[in-house]
Amino acid sequence: MRSIPVSDAIRWVGAIDWNLRDFHGYETPRGTTYNAYLVRGTEKTALIDTVKGRFVEELLARVRSVMDPADVDLIVVNHVEPDHNGGLRRVMRAMPNARVVASRSGVAGVAEYHDGLEVESVGADDVIDLGGVSLRFLPMPMVHWPDSMFTYCAEERVLMPNDAFGAHMASSERFADEVGLDLAVEELTIYYANILMPLGKQVAKAVEKVVATGWEIETIAPSHGVIWRGETLGPLFDTYARLTAGETREKIVVAFSTMWGSTDTLARAVVDGIAAEGVEVDLFDLAVTPIAHLTRNLLDSRALLLGSPTLHHGMLYRVAGYLQYLSGLKPQGKLGGAFGSYGWSSGATKQISGQLEAIGFELPFEPYTQKYRPSTEEIAAAREWGAQYARAVKEMD
Ligand code: FEO
Repeated sequence: MRSIPVSDAIRWVGAIDWNLRDFHGYETPRGTTYNAYLVRGTEKTALIDTVKGRFVEELLARVRSVMDPADVDLIVVNHVEPDHNGGLRRVMRAMPNARVVASRSGVAGVAEYHDGLEVESVGADDVIDLGGVSLRFLPMPMVHWPDSMFTYCAEERVLMPNDAFGAHMASSERFADEVGLDLAVEELTIYYANILMPLGKQVAKAVEKVVATGWEIETIAPSHGVIWRGETLGPLFDTYARLTAGETREKIVVAFSTMWGSTDTLARAVVDGIAAEGVEVDLFDLAVTPIAHLTRNLLDSRALLLGSPTLHHGMLYRVAGYLQYLSGLKPQGKLGGAFGSYGWSSGATKQISGQLEAIGFELPFEPYTQKYRPSTEEIAAAREWGAQYARAVKEMD
């Protein structure tokens, strides 16, 4: 299998997971990649990151296209999550002469994941000379695990930041300019929404930390998706600046689950009321919508309105599941609201409201709850209930 040049001394030797469709609950219709990089000096060669366990042979085949894996001198573990570290022991068997290094927290993580495996610690003061090229390290706790670390090759001006600046996207091309900037930025945004949203402040600080080093950067080579170089770096940094600032626009997301169509009818009325106020709105049926797609849409929206009928005194499980997903991502600075129908016992909208508040949504209006099939008057009331949210998000400018 081929390796792909990233710069004079660095080659991509990762794996392409074309058919991954679920990354711990985050749907990945385009699959993903597990990127690893071979940095070759005149005296030593380093492998930056490994891959998910079942892709080790693909990584080794790409390494063999340029050298004997047994001649690799160093393995850098930037992050211990199994999509990058799961194959470490098998890679080490093929590279028996390699030192293995990780951040201080990464050393503990490798030992815990790999039954006591001992590796060496590196930090911001360390430089590993490979002969003509060298590696520096920047521990990045909580971007996005405690062990996360960036690796930098000064001579090649290449930053390898692991999950930061990543995207779940399989492609035959390796660079953002090759797959097309619009697609690359959209996949970057989806990844940020579903993985990094609760860590916006830490990610912004990470970018500041890199800037403070004064490192010159011509290429950013993350561990998932495409590599960013040249003119794509500007849009990459601009996108991350917008995302970490939590930028939103006059937009509302309405999502619902329905039993017999009444909550669906209410949802459409709510959407109509929002649109009539001139505010952008998207409507999603949770029964058929990938939650990663919904969450990406929520990212730059100012309000989430969730609808569910009442079943057994509570909300439908798809609505509960999405609230659980959001409780980890903790969207900030957004309005929330609940609506839904019921037969003989209400309860869903109260339950949804409580959970939205617990997550951090502000609920400026009472939920809209309605019995049996919505009448003409109730549809009009739902429409007005949506319109008041539209007016509220316009005031958030
Ligand atoms: Fe791609 Fe946090 O692992």
